[in-house]
Parts: sequence; C-alpha cells; structure tokens
Amino acid sequence: MSNTKNVMFKPHAVQTPDGFETAWQSPSNIALVKYWGKIGNQIPMNPSISMTLDTSVTRTAVRARKKDKPGSNVQLRYIFDGKENPDFQARVLALLRSLDDELAFLKDYALEIDSSNTFPHSAGIASSASSMSALALCLLSIENVAGKKKSNIHSFLKKASHIARLGSGSASRSVYGGFVLWGKSSVIPKSGDHFAIPLPVKIHPVFDGMRDSILVIDQGEKPVSSRSGHEKMDQHPFKKGRIMQAGQNLQLIAGALNTGNWEMFSRVVENEALTLHGLMMSSHPGFLLIQPNTLKAIEKISTFRNQTKTKITYTLDAGPNLHVLYPQEDSSLVQQFIHGELAAYCHNNYVIHDQIGRGPHPIS
Ligand code: DP6
Repeated sequence: MSNTKNVMFKPHAVQTPDGFETAWQSPSNIALVKYWGKIGNQIPMNPSISMTLDTSVTRTAVRARKKDKPGSNVQLRYIFDGKENPDFQARVLALLRSLDDELAFLKDYALEIDSSNTFPHSAGIASSASSMSALALCLLSIENVAGKKKSNIHSFLKKASHIARLGSGSASRSVYGGFVLWGKSSVIPKSGDHFAIPLPVKIHPVFDGMRDSILVIDQGEKPVSSRSGHEKMDQHPFKKGRIMQAGQNLQLIAGALNTGNWEMFSRVVENEALTLHGLMMSSHPGFLLIQPNTLKAIEKISTFRNQTKTKITYTLDAGPNLHVLYPQEDSSLVQQFIHGELAAYCHNNYVIHDQIGRGPHPIS
C-alpha cells in the first residue's frame, strides 16, 4: 500500500446478510523525528518523520450489523486478543462518537471489532499506531462500500490517515510504508497537519531493508502516558527551541535519506531520541522513562561503533526500550553483537527483530 498512484480503489469490505465486514493488517512505526506536543484536536506541535515497521502489526476485523433502531447512538463491542477490553473499548467509542458525521454508516450499524497484535503489549512498540491505523482502514472500507462511494487509493489513504490521526497522532503515519511524514513543513510540498504523506524524497539504497531490533528493557506499565507527556509540552520552557530543532532535524534527515549520508542520519535520530527524553526530564513536573539499562545499552552501542566502524544507531520511543537501527548489509554482525552484549540488558533477554515495512494491507 506504499504506492499511492491514482488508480481506482477496490473497496475491501464485503456485504453480509445484515451488514458489512472487512479486515486489515496495519504495522506500527518508529519515529525518527519525534511528534511530542500537540495543539487542539490532534494537531502536532511540529512535523515528524517515521519508519514503518514490517512484522509488528495489528490485525483488525470489523463487522457492521444493521441496528434495530437506525440513527441511534454508536454501538460497539471491542474484543482484543479474544477478550473484551474496557480501556480500549472506551477509547475507540470516544473516537467513533466524534466521527459519526464523517462516517455516516456509524449511525445505522452496530460494530463488532476483533483485534490482535503480533507483538506483546508493552514491548516498546507503539500499539496505538498499528491498532488505530488498522481500525481507520476498516472503517473507511465499510464507509466506501456502504455509501457506494468511488474513491481512488490516494484519497482513500489520505482520509484513512486523517481518521487514524484522530485516534492517535502517530497512527496517521502507519497508513503508508517506508519513510513517512506527518505535519506541515514549509520545505515539503503537500505536507499537512491533518494527515501523513509518504516522505517525498528518493531514498538512497543504503536505507533499503533497514533493520530495527527492539531491546525490550522493561515491559512494565509506563509511569506517565504519551498523552500526558504531550500535554506537558504546552507550557514547556523549551517549547520554542524544540519546534525550531524539529524543523531543522527534519530537513537534515530528509537530506541524509536522499544522499545516503548514514552519519548524518545517525546523528539526527540519536539527537531526537535524547531530546525527547530531555524534554520529559525538563517538564513540570519532570519524569524519567529511560532506565539504567537503557543507558548501559547506549554506551555499549557507542563503543561498538567506535571500535568496528559499523553503521549502527538507535532511537527511543516514549519508554525505556531501545530501537537499534542498522542497514541490512550489517545485520549479521550487529545481531551477533546484540545477542552477545545487549540482550543481557533486556527483560528475559528479549529482543524483537523487525525492519522497514511496506505498509498496511487488507486481509479479508
Ligand atoms: C514519542 O501518537 O502515542 O512515540 O496522539 O496522544 O495518541 P497520541 O500520542 P502518540 O505519541 C507518540 C509519541 C512518540 C513519538 C512519535 O511517535 O512521533
């Protein structure tokens, strides 16, 4: 689905005796330039760039059944991993209620959503990105079939990204494969705050098949959610500087991806990772999500890089788990290093090996 050429889109929902059903698989993504801070209804404080993952995905099936009383409130049953999940049910219900003008079928059909991830909860992989994007793609597929709408794949994905964003900002980027940009940037034409776009830059072959090995340092619940972390940026003393820095980093990384400048790429992603956690520490009140083993692993990576000159870098999500990034060509050397020296810092030696992916696809 990374190719958004102007072809007619074949809706992926099927009609059933009492409604419609569809299913999509959508990946998570890891931000290289971070979205941290928002304005109003899910408008990012600064533009961000991510890399879509491959094997860390959510699979979501949605069944829409004609209600006995059409036009009544949104009705939802949300099943996660075969069980009801009240927390996610409440979040999805709030999203659906806010969407009933955009997705007309929600007034007339009751929904049953069945979802599961290929990766464990709290593994340091953004589950809201994959789950909200999978859900958005399902909802829009049903909307297209129920409303007999004709749309091309480009407008379908743009609207899916917009709906995914309303569920979770980072989810807007998971609608596309490869490197993705979300947020208005004065240097990137067609960028916008309401939806993501595939990064309109020719990517140098050094980044083809890029790897992301996730060091699961701690699987525990985060003491501060991303949502409240974003809120703390409203009054952050470094807010202005952060907006400027993100804009500069975006240009630097877009240039590095284009020219194959691994060193610049590495410098920017590490700067973004450390800035993200620096912003958390300097919030009011400050908070810490990295842990001693996160720092130990970072030190080991620096030493290994200095000694071997291998292309290896890292980034961090809003948590203690480290994403180790490296080109495909160095994968056997780096994976040997990870299992020999870094896995010891992980919870039960747990490492998830993933890589750049091509984006979501229907599974119905
Ligand atoms: C640190 O997308 O999870 O991962 O919009 O409130 O759902 P909400 O936040 P979320 O924030 C992600 C923050 C980040 C950086 C990023 O993915 O860009």
